[in-house]
Amino acid sequence: MQGRIGAVGFVRGLLRILRGRPRIPPSLENNKALSVVLDRRSVRRFVQKDIADDVFAAILEAGRLAPSTVNLQTWSFALFTAGSWQEMFDRPTPFRAPRAVVILADTHRVRQAIEAFAESPLVEYTVAVMNASLAAMNMTIAAEALGVSSVMLSETGRSGLLDAGYLKEKLALPDRVIPIATIVFGYPRAGRPPMPPKFPLETISFEGAYRQTDSAVMEEWLAQMKAGYKASHPLSSLDAQLEHYVSKIGRAETDLQAMVFRNEK
Ligand SMILES: Cc1cc2nc3c(=O)[nH]c(=O)nc-3n(C[C@H](O)[C@H](O)[C@H](O)COP(=O)(O)O)c2cc1C
Repeated sequence: MQGRIGAVGFVRGLLRILRGRPRIPPSLENNKALSVVLDRRSVRRFVQKDIADDVFAAILEAGRLAPSTVNLQTWSFALFTAGSWQEMFDRPTPFRAPRAVVILADTHRVRQAIEAFAESPLVEYTVAVMNASLAAMNMTIAAEALGVSSVMLSETGRSGLLDAGYLKEKLALPDRVIPIATIVFGYPRAGRPPMPPKFPLETISFEGAYRQTDSAVMEEWLAQMKAGYKASHPLSSLDAQLEHYVSKIGRAETDLQAMVFRNEK
């Protein structure tokens, strides 16, 4: 990571973020389903209002009905209210959200019925993570359609992939059940945050052979990321946050390797 960004870079980056909008063809501007997907933002501030059980059930149903490899449905969902999270983890839910779901990549269940993935731990893990991620995304989109905001977490509050070992122990997870993220849900406080800097489609797509991204595009993006982070976390910085992530990655790698490659009990 590069060092500090100057004041001019900060202001310019911030202005770009504030101007960032989904690109929707005018003919589709009134399409509600499209707006739900494109307007979704990760929300980290919630009002202290619970989500009704039937609304939450609909969100979970969207997870249950997600697509998956050969319909193997390689996922489990650990469900929490603010109270049961406090009881389990001895602290409030991340961002004090009223509901949380720990998303688990789970090939334990399906192995009880069929012999899938005999000796292919990497394929097994990848398939499980892919499918569970789709279920997670389905939940966040369904939530959004119901006016419920969310954020997926891999680290914050010891709630995801980077704390897989801790969660395995806490939730008494069998082998081949791997926590990949927690989604916290709630009604947003203070509206929707601005869209963080997203790469333009021209940067992330190509026709034919792979196209290398211009380093100027990446520098510009990094400056915007830093400005956006500083604006929302005045007492911290993107560099500090990344350092925190990096400090946890070694342990997480060891825990995950044990779960993925040495879980032959
Ligand atoms: C798998 C995954 C893990 C994430 N982990 C965290 C996290 O630990 N803490 C956090 O505040 N946000 C986390 N996020 C949210 C991202 O920061 C967010 O999606 C990204 O900045 C883009 O913003 P948007 O969701 O509003 O488009 C995570 C998102 C994903 C998909």
